Order: sequence, then C-alpha cells, then structure tokens
Amino acid sequence: MGDININSNPKAPMIPKFDDKIKIDVRYMVIVPYVSIHIYYDEKSGEVIYDIEEPILSEEEKGNLAKIEQTIREVVNVKMVGIKNTKENLLDYIDKTAKLIISELGLTIEKESYKKMFYYLYRNFVGLNEIEAMMKDYFIEDIECNGMGEYIYIVHRVFRNIKTTVKFNDMNKLSSFVEKLAQKTGRYISYASPILDGGLPDGSMVNATYTQDISSKGPTFTIRKFTKTPWTPTQLIGFHTLSPEMLAYFWILLQYQSNIMIVGGTASGKTTLLNAMAFFIPQENRVVSIEDTRELNLPRENWLPSVVRTGISSEGAGEINMDSLLKSSFRQNPDYVIVGEVRGKEASVLFQGMASGHASISTMHGDSVDSIVRRLETPPISLSPMLVNGLDAMMIMTHAIVNGKETRKLREIVEVISVEADGTTLTNTPFKWNPADDKFYHAKNSKIFDKIAEKVGISKDNIEKEFEIRARLLYALFQNKVLSYEDVQRVINDYSKNPAGILKKYGVTR
Ligand SMILES: Nc1ncnc2c1ncn2[C@@H]1O[C@H](COP(=O)(O)OP(=O)(O)O)[C@@H](O)[C@H]1O
Ligand SMILES: [Mg+2]
Repeated sequence: MGDININSNPKAPMIPKFDDKIKIDVRYMVIVPYVSIHIYYDEKSGEVIYDIEEPILSEEEKGNLAKIEQTIREVVNVKMVGIKNTKENLLDYIDKTAKLIISELGLTIEKESYKKMFYYLYRNFVGLNEIEAMMKDYFIEDIECNGMGEYIYIVHRVFRNIKTTVKFNDMNKLSSFVEKLAQKTGRYISYASPILDGGLPDGSMVNATYTQDISSKGPTFTIRKFTKTPWTPTQLIGFHTLSPEMLAYFWILLQYQSNIMIVGGTASGKTTLLNAMAFFIPQENRVVSIEDTRELNLPRENWLPSVVRTGISSEGAGEINMDSLLKSSFRQNPDYVIVGEVRGKEASVLFQGMASGHASISTMHGDSVDSIVRRLETPPISLSPMLVNGLDAMMIMTHAIVNGKETRKLREIVEVISVEADGTTLTNTPFKWNPADDKFYHAKNSKIFDKIAEKVGISKDNIEKEFEIRARLLYALFQNKVLSYEDVQRVINDYSKNPAGILKKYGVTR
C-alpha cells in the first residue's frame, strides 16, 4: 500500500494510578502514527477531559480535503465500502482513488500533507468519523451522545465517566452520522422506525434514536464497546479441554459449512467453545450472530452481531425476539449463522434454516444427542425429530474433576447419521474423552468427512491428510506459544492463503 500505513491496534499502555484527580495528565497513541489521546484535569471546569489529538490541517489542506471528499462521494460508489472488504483493501482503495482524484483535479499536494489528509479520508470513509479514535481506544467501554451541541461522554476503564471535547453542532451532520451507524449495523433507521439496536462489525453494540424535531436535541446514540477477549483454540489445548485433532476436525467442518451444535450443562463451556471454533470460519465468510446477551467476540471483520431486545414496553411493541431475529438474519444471506443459546421457538427456525441450506453453529442445554432430540420433540419446541438430520455433528461439553481440579472437557464429538420420526437416532462418535486416563481418543471413521468429500468432490483420503496436517500444525502452534487472539487469528488466515509457508514456519512436514 505504498507509503501509507495505519495501525489502529497499538499495544495498550500502562496508565498510572492518580491519587488526586487534579494530577491527571496522560497521553497515549490510539491510531499510529496519527492520533493520540490526552486525558487531563481542566482547572477551569474542574473536570477531567478526554481530548483527541488528530493531525492539524492548514486552511489550504482543509480546502483540498473537502474537494477530495466531495469528489469521492460523487464519483465513487461509497457502498463498496461495504462489509465484504478487509481494512487493507479499503485503505488501498482510498489511497488509489484519492491519488486519482488529486491528479484529475490538478491539485499539488506535498507528501506530508497527503499523509495527514489520508488519515481523514480513512477516518471518514472507513472509520466512524469524529468518534473513530474513541472506537479504537482500548480503554473505552461506552460512548454516549445525548444530542446536538452536547459534548460526547465516555466510560473509560481507568477514569470512568469523563467528558470529551467532541460534539456535533450541526443537526444534519448528526443525523447522517446516525444513519451511518445504522448502515454499519446492516439495519435501517428513519422517522418511521426511529430506534436502532444493532451490532457493529467489531462487535460493539449500538443504540440510537433518530429525529430532527427542533424542540429536541436531535438524534442520540450510545455505543457499548465489546471488550471481552475470548479464549483461543490453542489456549483450550493448554487447558486440556480438547485435543488438537478435535480442533482440526472443526477446522475442516467449518471450512465446508457444516452444521454444528454444542451441547452441555450450565457453565460447561459451550459459549467458550463456540467462540474458539469461530476462529476456523473462513475469513471471507459473512457471519451473523444472535444472542440473548452479548458474550461472543468473533475474530473477524465480516460479522454482524445482534442481541435480542425484550421488555421495551408492556405490550411487547419494540420487542425483538430470537426467532424473528433469526428469520431476518437468514434474509441477509450469511454464510454462517451463530445462535448463542437455543431455547424455544427459535429452534424450529434454526432447524428449518439448516434444512434449506443455511449453515449454523449453535449451543443448547443438554447432555447427549438423545436428550436434545427429546427436548426438540416436546413442548414448547414441538418439532419433528427428523429435522435433527440437518445437523452434522454435536459437540458435548462437560464439567469434570481431574486430579481434584475443576475442568471443562469436550467429552464427545457425535456425528448425526440419521434420526427417525419416532426419535430413534443413529450416530457415529469419532472423538471421545476417556476419564480413566484423561486422554482424547480418535476413531478414524468420520462420516461427515465422507459427506464433505462427496459434496465438494475431493477424495476422503485428501480430507484426512489435510485433517492430520492441521492437527499437527495446531499442536505446533500450541508448543510455539501462539496463543493470543491476534496471533492465532493471523496464523489461521495466513494458512488459508499460504499453507506451505505456515507449515514450514512452524516446522510441520507433510
Ligand atoms: N475450556 C474451559 N476451561 C476452563 N474453564 C472454562 C472453559 N470454558 C469455560 N470455562 C469457564 O466456565 C465459565 C462458563 O463458560 P461458558 O462458556 O459461558 O459456559 P456455557 O456457555 O456452557 O454456560 C466461563 O466463565 C469460564 O470461566
Ligand atoms: Mg453460554
């Protein structure tokens, strides 16, 4: 991408403790090399202030930037700044487009000047404009705007509620910003439907209201950033929750859009496993997730999270439940739908979705294939057990005490072969944990590999070889301490582009 580089994920700094708020004065970078945050005590107001220090443009630079932005809006299909694109592609695209426009408009712009302007193009076209730096600030939990002319407040992990120096002074700008938020969540906001509840591609949740009523302060929004970092597949190897072979099995199944359900008791680690499995969903797949409360944090850009909304009014108006969310998510045509926990009516939508070719991963309370089949056939779900045929495999999670220690185990991976109308099931169990020796056993007879082989037209032999090599790679990653969220994500993505290079790097031979 030439000389342009933006790092919006620098290592979070250590922030010292201040015993007195009047001493607060810290500065840290959030978007390298462009933006730092300055948090300080302001004597005049007696408040702690959050100030965003962005590149400063001269009047001439501002003028040129406005011309470029204007032209980009006019000539370029801004919709292409959609969710299928990676950040690198977008930056590259903006760089090329801006340079083209500059030469067409006959502007002369110094290199340093261009670099600064590029930041604003990134901020306004790829990012979230004035609040982009806050979105990238690791320490921020919430961002709140209470209308036009009001300073935006944030919740900071160290300094808690503080005032920023950012506000929207123009009703049109605030309205179009809220429209942009809506567009990024894949939803729609208007006078007719003025309430937005949705998830941004980074996992943050947005609530917004939309009005231009002059008696009010106009649109408002709150962004709740998602801060939980999930455990990675290699960390789960470290906890002895599962084996590298089990992970390699997921990797193959998820590559070919198999339908998976994770089953287990309360707090058996279902959601944790689901999140770890998501590392293996191909990066180019579009993923929609649905949950009761936000727990998932998927390692991907191409993701629309949503959360069930209940109790808005006593009549249930404004209530969005899981089955309606699920129906609308199918309409968005995702490659994978992830359902946090299946409990009621949404089960029928989910299974019918699978039957009509929508791949899914879900979790459900239970302890075996039979217990799930029974729960599905009895009220309130009352489904035909035959629909369970849509599932390829169930992962059974369990609590276990090993050497006096509380652990979580992936006890079994069970493949669904057939389920009859009377609820009789035929299954195959390629993986099993043995409590006697605390080891995971693998029987080499995956029926889903057969199914995949047939579906995509490659030999089962090849799938098994690939499975085996991935299992060894995962073990090598674990041994090489490739454990963090970013590292694991990177290696898995790189493997899809350049398997030989990654195998070589970690010393795995074919
Ligand atoms: N593989 C694991 N090893 C150790 N502890 C785990 C593991 N998975 C989950 N836990 C712990 O159990 C708790 C519940 O996990 P969670 O995935 O939310 O369970 P569930 O979705 O089944 O209710 C988590 O807060 C975590 O501390
Ligand atoms: Mg859960």
